[in-house]
Amino acid sequence: MRLTLLPLLACPGCGGSLELRTLREATAPAGGGTAAAPEIDLGVLSCSTCPRAYALVDGIPRLTLPGFAAGPSPLDLLGARATELPTELRQRLGAMMAAANEPEAEWARAEMKFWDGQAYADPSVPPVGLDRTYPRKKHLIDPLLRMRRPEVIIEVGCGRAETVTACLDLAAMGALYVGVDLALGGLRLARRRVPGEFVQASITHLPFREDVADWLLCFGTLHHLPGHERRARALVHLLKPGGLAAFHESADRPAVFGRVPAIRRLVGEESEHEGHIDAEALRDLLAAEGELVFFRPELSALRTWLNVAFYPFLTRSRLVLDLLDACDQVAIAKLGPLVPPFRAGSVMALVRRRGREPEAPVDAARQPER
Ligand SMILES: C[S@@+](CC[C@H](N)C(=O)[O-])C[C@H]1O[C@@H](n2cnc3c(N)ncnc32)[C@H](O)[C@@H]1O
Ligand SMILES: [Zn+2]
Repeated sequence: MRLTLLPLLACPGCGGSLELRTLREATAPAGGGTAAAPEIDLGVLSCSTCPRAYALVDGIPRLTLPGFAAGPSPLDLLGARATELPTELRQRLGAMMAAANEPEAEWARAEMKFWDGQAYADPSVPPVGLDRTYPRKKHLIDPLLRMRRPEVIIEVGCGRAETVTACLDLAAMGALYVGVDLALGGLRLARRRVPGEFVQASITHLPFREDVADWLLCFGTLHHLPGHERRARALVHLLKPGGLAAFHESADRPAVFGRVPAIRRLVGEESEHEGHIDAEALRDLLAAEGELVFFRPELSALRTWLNVAFYPFLTRSRLVLDLLDACDQVAIAKLGPLVPPFRAGSVMALVRRRGREPEAPVDAARQPER
């Protein structure tokens, strides 16, 4: 973690600002640290408002509340270097132990059994295909690039950060990219390939101040969360006024896709989704929360089954994907209202946060002389 991230962060428990105590700087920075902007490898982030304190290990701030992440306690994560900390800070870290059996924490731990236990456990698993990244680039990322040049990009539920890897040249853009996920396995893999910052946190308890991001990316993640409506609203609030959020979400899926393991594997679904997203309700919610710039239903169940049958062929060519999508769009519009399998199985949306942008500070030296 570099110091540039610190002003964006907030305590996920109370929203207070965080103070950093460095225990070790990275010798070979993964995120491009320099002498002027060193990368912190090991340390503690303590809340200035409440007693909570969090470990920063292997360059990744672990901003989770007790019970949300499996594994050692924050104090144990720091290892022998913890003895260098003042007693008060050690006590604060020690108090961050599990777990009132909060339903959201239980949900998160069950979800992570799939992501850290299976999906991200094997680093050799190939990246997601063109069928996932190409529509995101075409309908979301490219329009974002045209609409607003970002200084800060936050991606929630970034997983292995495969979409930004495929669609953006972050190093050339010079933007600060921050990937957030609860699954440590995904964050570790992403950190190796993407120049940016990675934070372990639950989207149900965001570790950011409001009004900080130019772009907010949320792909395939809302439907993994309990109470996704509330989460979607909170995500829009991370944006600066005029900032843009991009969502790509499963919607209106037959529950059987997620609940029956054999079908789940067949259609490429992931963990047992419990959050059902209603496409129209999501559209209304986003339109109420900001200016809905773009909304696109796609991927009927029929198309999903085509993917199952012909996946290697379908994902090789952008032209084939465009053709299929064109057919799918007609089917969704004309047949969807009549026949359930033709309804959209996922939606894409772009939302602009309302409100006036702060005026740029006037540079006195550049004012013309009167
Ligand atoms: C379908 S994957 C999407 C990954 C990535 N956005 C992509 O499109 O390739 C869903 C991601 O949500 C993450 N996730 C699920 N629940 C979460 C939570 N409460 N907080 C943070 N991340 C969560 C999972 O770990 C997983 O990486
Ligand atoms: Zn706090």
